[in-house]
Amino acid sequence: MLYTRVIRPLLFTLDPELSHRSAIRFGRWLSGLSVAHGLLRRAYDIQFQELSVEAFGLGFRNPVGLAAGFDKHGEICALMPRLGFGHVEVGSVSLRPWPGNPSPTLLRLPRDHGLINRLGLNSEGSEVVQARLQNMKFEIPTGVSLVKTADPAISGGEAIEDYLENFARFYDRADFITLNLSCPNTVDGRTFEDPQALEPFLNALRLEEVKLKAGSRAKPVLIKLSPDLDDETLDRVLALAERSGISGYVIANTTARREDLKTPAPVLAGFGTGGLSGLPLTRYARAMVRKVWTRTRGRRPIIACGGIGCDPRRHPAEAVWEYLTLGATLVQLHTGLIYCGPSIVRLINEELVRILRRNGFSSLAEFFQKRKEQLTQSEGGG
Ligand SMILES: Cc1cc2nc3c(=O)[nH]c(=O)nc-3n(C[C@H](O)[C@H](O)[C@H](O)COP(=O)(O)O)c2cc1C
Repeated sequence: MLYTRVIRPLLFTLDPELSHRSAIRFGRWLSGLSVAHGLLRRAYDIQFQELSVEAFGLGFRNPVGLAAGFDKHGEICALMPRLGFGHVEVGSVSLRPWPGNPSPTLLRLPRDHGLINRLGLNSEGSEVVQARLQNMKFEIPTGVSLVKTADPAISGGEAIEDYLENFARFYDRADFITLNLSCPNTVDGRTFEDPQALEPFLNALRLEEVKLKAGSRAKPVLIKLSPDLDDETLDRVLALAERSGISGYVIANTTARREDLKTPAPVLAGFGTGGLSGLPLTRYARAMVRKVWTRTRGRRPIIACGGIGCDPRRHPAEAVWEYLTLGATLVQLHTGLIYCGPSIVRLINEELVRILRRNGFSSLAEFFQKRKEQLTQSEGGG
């Protein structure tokens, strides 16, 4: 209440880039204060045994994670357990530093409970981020989202080399790695989600992984999908991903679509292109989660992401529950942290326990077991 009634309106008077930078600076300052850790722990870090999840060989204390893009450079990930999160994804990080796009890069859509960003995959680069993460003790599974350096001059085979070097750099340190495939890797703007580019990339990645695995524990590698993929491309991407032994999927990234928004068209046109997140993304992300779960027959965990905590008419845990019933094993949020504030994970976890009980489950593990049985039965029944 305090956040949505007082703090958010004040924050929304600030330029969105400035408020994000200030939040990161504040978070960095808090990270170094043990008294802040104590206070935050009491206020937000409330955990429930019933919500623990096992996925791709890792144990999660609850299903809610911080999505990529909030802590791009690994500056505040050590504080995220104190906000109650069950995992965090740092990045996306590129091999080389990249400045991203000039301002303005963020547009809030308060009427739609969304956000448009075109940061342009800015990154301090793998060397800086790796050094920052090197001596941290991760309390919760901490993934690193990787992207090709957004420099358009790096394309074709060089783009693959760039990605692989980055992959090797974080392989030992990260608990899991997410491949953000949405950066253009050719001069004509094609991304790694283009099956023609994805196939050689995944083949090269597999070879690199064999080398890296020899000196380390095998690492879960996930791919993050755009909600805008058409059905045919999605099928081809999934076939390639499954063949190369990908551990799971993060669904979804932001959308380029602008359908049914309440924000006036001239405002949208004035800002221009960018990825839309928050409430308007929910329906596309949901549809994508369902499709991937059905097409992969629930074989690999899905981390669902899109609009959690952005619908003012519903409890944020309901959006989480919906994703879980559609096939997700974990969820992530980004825009919801801006709209709901730092208590969002606590609110979700407290309510999720109630929702589970109302639906006759004593734990998430029991719910997942039941979901699996139902899928097997429905397949058996044709
Ligand atoms: C400002 C901003 C920056 C983002 N940067 C990244 C990024 O670097 N890598 C990535 O994979 N996703 C990025 N995303 C996408 C989010 O991780 C997430 O997939 C998307 O915002 C949907 O979730 P949400 O509706 O909870 O925000 C970004 C999103 C926002 C709003």
